[in-house]
Amino acid sequence: MSDDRYLTFALGKGRLAKKTLELFEQIGITCEEMKDKDTRKLIFVNEELKLRFFLSKGPDVPTYVEYGAADIGVVGKDTILEENRNVYEVLDLGFGKCRMCVCGPLSAMELLQHHERIRVASKYPNIAKDYFYNKKHQTVDIIKLNGSVELGPLVELSDVIVDIVETGSTLRENGLEVLEEICPLSARMIVNPVSMQMEAERIKELVRAIRNKLAEAK
Ligand code: PRP
Repeated sequence: MSDDRYLTFALGKGRLAKKTLELFEQIGITCEEMKDKDTRKLIFVNEELKLRFFLSKGPDVPTYVEYGAADIGVVGKDTILEENRNVYEVLDLGFGKCRMCVCGPLSAMELLQHHERIRVASKYPNIAKDYFYNKKHQTVDIIKLNGSVELGPLVELSDVIVDIVETGSTLRENGLEVLEEICPLSARMIVNPVSMQMEAERIKELVRAIRNKLAEAK
């Protein structure tokens, strides 16, 4: 495949994108256009390196990558697990570290231990379902929410929640606890399977450069 083809990156909007661009800068990949805070542009190009970048909502990143609209994506492991798309996960970028947990009031611990049929609120219904049905073999009712999930047990919508815990302060301030840990999370790089073959050299070189930079920083 010729190097004339642009390699396209989909980045999840927000903190992850900022961190990703900082990391890319360290290996000589810059995108000046993207630094303009007032811009309404959606796609940014580095003509010299033949790279394109766009920002999207996190859960859409694996979709763009699966369909090949982006060759490469950077997104949280939570989104990768929840979306379950046909993409290759090639690198743990080591930032955005947090945990997916079952949380609730301490009193809910007993319900979990006795495998009661409980209500579980989550922004991540697929992760919640996989955990309770396939790992714990516990039948539960899952209620999808779109954010501020901690409200679930507080207003008695649910017994527990499945959510991301980073510092733990949201839980603490609302009298909730981590009851079970599901898995650790961090930002990951994902690649479209066809791009992985067609652009193998460029992608491998990029992964190598990032991996070396991450190792240096340790
Ligand atoms: C996330 C997550 C928790 C919180 C955890 O929510 O869903 O609510 O951060 O962080 P902490 O352990 O450091 O308190 P986010 O801020 O992304 O908003 P959301 O509730 O609307 O999803």
